[in-house]
Amino acid sequence: MSDPTTTETGQRDRGSAILEVRRDRAWDLRFYTRIAPVYELWAALAESKARGRVLEVAGVSDGEAVLEVAVGTGKQLAALARRNPTGRTVGVDLADGMLAMARRRLARARLDRVELRQGDALALPFEGESFDLVVNSYMLDLLPRDHIPLAVAEFRRVLRPAGRLVLSNMTKGERPRHRLFDTLYARGLSLTANCRGVLAAPALRELGFAEVRREYLTQLLFPTEIVSARKPDRELTEREATR
Ligand SMILES: C[S@@+](CC[C@H](N)C(=O)[O-])C[C@H]1O[C@@H](n2cnc3c(N)ncnc32)[C@H](O)[C@@H]1O
Repeated sequence: MSDPTTTETGQRDRGSAILEVRRDRAWDLRFYTRIAPVYELWAALAESKARGRVLEVAGVSDGEAVLEVAVGTGKQLAALARRNPTGRTVGVDLADGMLAMARRRLARARLDRVELRQGDALALPFEGESFDLVVNSYMLDLLPRDHIPLAVAEFRRVLRPAGRLVLSNMTKGERPRHRLFDTLYARGLSLTANCRGVLAAPALRELGFAEVRREYLTQLLFPTEIVSARKPDRELTEREATR
């Protein structure tokens, strides 16, 4: 009998409803560098509604320290920065092509205070407890399943006590027609690059985040979850550690 915890790429296993990714990180990097100039066409069709909602849920107050991980072309980062004119806004991405687009966008918008860094979500180039808010959109859904909690743990590490995390991810469709992209992905026909539906809330709860909330929305049959949570404040964390 096969081991239910090991799966062929793209196949569903018995322990998880989340498909395993079909491509590796080198493929993702090449793909996002190549696709950067036209990525916003896809985003306008399938992700713009979620971006609006992320900004509402994030509720940036001017003066905060805000980090967006995997900024892509920087559209959401620019919107975060506009809400935070006197604060610190930082963006990170792995792909050169995306960073170049983001840099141009920020320069055009004269958002000179925004810091852009090349970096990996799995090893963020920041000290612990540096940010009040961490935002990450449509990145966990392209990571291998076992990297998802590692990335969330990095988000938690760089958040200050009581800091907020806001995620948007391609998620599991809740109606048959919303499962179209995942069904095709499982059959080897991916219209969503290396992305497939994920569920982030369990990883957040597992890592001790508080106030975990999840919303589900769709655009062009493309299902998105918006998950928000708060890192417990220091007093609570210390009390838990001594229990
Ligand atoms: C689907 S795009 C989403 C871009 C942007 N967040 C948005 O919503 O428009 C995925 C982005 O994740 C970036 N990425 C993939 N793996 C990453 C990693 N390990 N660390 C940082 N960025 C990563 C890619 O370079 C790409 O810009």
